[in-house]
Amino acid sequence: MFRDDFVWGVASSSYQIEGSDPEDGMGKNVWDTFMEKGKMKDKGDAKVSCDHIHHYKEDYRLMNNLGIKAYRFSLSWARIIPNGVGEVNQKGIQLYRDMILEMKKNGITPYITLYHWELPQALEDCGGWLNEEIIEWFAEYARVVVENFGDLCDYFITINEPQCFVGIGYMQGAHAPGKTLPMKDIFQIAHNVLRAHGRAVINMRKYAGKKIYVGYAPTCGVAYPISDRPEDVEAARKVYFGFYQPDENWTWNVSWFSDPVFLGHYPEEGMKKYAEYLPKITQEDMDLIYQPLDFMGQNIYNGYYIQAGKDGNPEYANRPIGFPITASKWPITPECLYYGCKFIYERYHLPIFITENGLSCADNVALDGQVHDTNRIEFLDLYISQLQRAVDEGVDVRGYFLWTFCDNFEWEKGYTERFGIVWVDFQTQERIAKDSAYWYQKMMETNGANLSINHHPRTLLFFEPKLIKRVWGGNRLKKEWGFEGELEDHIGECWVVSSNEQVDCVVNRGFYKGKKLSELWNEEPDLFDHMEGDEFPLLVKLIDAKEDLSLQVHPDDAYAGLNENGSGKRECWYVLDCPEDATLAIGNKAQSLEEFSRLVSEGAWDQLINEVPIKKGDFIQIEPGTLHAIKAGFMLLEIQQNSDITYRIYDYDRVCEDTPRELNIEKGLQVMKVPNLITEEDIFHPVNTKNVIQRLIMTDHYQIWSLEVAAPLVLQNEWPFLIVSVVEGDGLVDGTQVSRGNHFIIPNGYKTCKIQGSMKLVITAPVI
Ligand code: BGC
Repeated sequence: MFRDDFVWGVASSSYQIEGSDPEDGMGKNVWDTFMEKGKMKDKGDAKVSCDHIHHYKEDYRLMNNLGIKAYRFSLSWARIIPNGVGEVNQKGIQLYRDMILEMKKNGITPYITLYHWELPQALEDCGGWLNEEIIEWFAEYARVVVENFGDLCDYFITINEPQCFVGIGYMQGAHAPGKTLPMKDIFQIAHNVLRAHGRAVINMRKYAGKKIYVGYAPTCGVAYPISDRPEDVEAARKVYFGFYQPDENWTWNVSWFSDPVFLGHYPEEGMKKYAEYLPKITQEDMDLIYQPLDFMGQNIYNGYYIQAGKDGNPEYANRPIGFPITASKWPITPECLYYGCKFIYERYHLPIFITENGLSCADNVALDGQVHDTNRIEFLDLYISQLQRAVDEGVDVRGYFLWTFCDNFEWEKGYTERFGIVWVDFQTQERIAKDSAYWYQKMMETNGANLSINHHPRTLLFFEPKLIKRVWGGNRLKKEWGFEGELEDHIGECWVVSSNEQVDCVVNRGFYKGKKLSELWNEEPDLFDHMEGDEFPLLVKLIDAKEDLSLQVHPDDAYAGLNENGSGKRECWYVLDCPEDATLAIGNKAQSLEEFSRLVSEGAWDQLINEVPIKKGDFIQIEPGTLHAIKAGFMLLEIQQNSDITYRIYDYDRVCEDTPRELNIEKGLQVMKVPNLITEEDIFHPVNTKNVIQRLIMTDHYQIWSLEVAAPLVLQNEWPFLIVSVVEGDGLVDGTQVSRGNHFIIPNGYKTCKIQGSMKLVITAPVI
């Protein structure tokens, strides 16, 4: 769980939200120039954006209403010092002071970032980050910041994502200032950025006039292992801190931008690889860069798979096709928060703040006037759950800032991406808190207790069926019902919901994919309303009898408990198919146990066996102690207690692997009910009433209904769980297509299930 004082907040940056005012005295920055050149995807600019400078009061009130208590935002260098150096713009200072005071009035703790990519144009005109003088320019700006806001704020972050503005801004040219400089210059720029950071930290501590907490917010995609095998984890760690990326992407590097800051030296691997491009690097530089920091910020959005190759060396592994993505087409990789934090903490040992994480969605205002961004909720849930996993394993994470509060100006993509938990109408400046804002509020309030890692979701549980060989079995389950498996013939049974030693069904889709039913029973008792018992209590199978099955009987709980260390076996059958004029052997014709034994020893089966006429669609209850046999030509759905204790009385002298099949007459007689004459009246003939649920039976262990679906309906679940068997037709169940032969569990707490189509269902609930 997250520590009690964990900081939950939202993040933004000045240029992306503030907008401008002709009267504000602000200087121009590199992004203004970049936009004037028409570099934006949607031709939009940031002159108004969210117009935050005129709406901050209502924005902080909204934050307050949404329970947001920490806010990471950045200051515009050119708003404070219009030319980057020299005269300070008092209007800018006043505006930010008013903003911070307003935040505090709303119970929001400010976290100030000094530099979020918007270099004053005047400085760019003098060479920008390539000019070493920027170290002093930035330090001077840092002094002005703490002198003016140090009394109001305790937390400061020097630079946001150096990887990004150095690489995209100066090497690839897709961000301001839109340059494509040679490698040597880029390494010089990177070195200047790191030195500027160091000088700024010194000035901030010196001029703040009090103890302040200072950090830094780099980023990078996270190399994370494709599996949790130690080799894969090691391979991922190597790539994460290594230099595997192509030269044109070299700035997307963790260690180059973090080792100097947190360890006091550049990584050797990079020094070797890029020796020809490196600027002069002195010990004095390294001492300057290596300033003590109070925390490490890290912006994490996504990651990429790494695996250990055959030789143990790391390999990039492809994501499967159809891998989930966000609206920006970034992959959804929640594990990056777990592995990112873990790897970083192991290497740098500083408390971590996730200074940004979030996603862009194709949000829109629905007809009800709200914004239902379920994708964002699910993304955040999965990611923050993985963050908790890291915390639970001892990684010192202190805070998380969601990117971002309001939809805003997304750099070169303009307004084509919406990252906010608050919708902004850029024409009217109206704000609408999206569903995710309410979700995040609840998550913060409960300190993560409502995350799926702590509170697993209820989903329909579908299992992988398993075919079982039986001497008497046929091949209809494969040929006619489409079940897959290696067996070709003598397929007597298909176990569809089972958790015992013979077949422990595995969930084959969704959140619990890969989990065995027995594991769910033990690890996720919520799904079954914490029912008592060591094992899932029921077992469901399909039976295809090509030949007669043995004449047999099952014990009840009392007998099985005493003699077999197991549970009894009460069962019932729904007849899926059978020959015309068929009969089944159920019950017996003896008047007493003595007569029963005598008939058995004489082999007078005709006088003993009781035949009952049966039709397709009939339902038959087999109580423990009832002699019974399934006959050739029957296909049944069998629902029973989770037990496999059977006593065979007669097997038509059948031979299996050269020996006659074992009989258990003695035990069978001990449990046999006599007299037990079953008649046609004991057979249930369900009358199909469309869309009306009909109870077939209620016993001490289960109750069963049939339901013919002809029109859309909603099934209410008030049971510890329900097992649904589709015995005919096909349809849709809460978005999933099902057809004859499919079975699924509706777990406890999964309250309603939308069903439609044309199909027959048999529905089973346990009886406690
Ligand atoms: C940046 C933000 C940006 C976000 C989404 C981060 O890299 O710091 O300014 O809006 O990603 O692209």
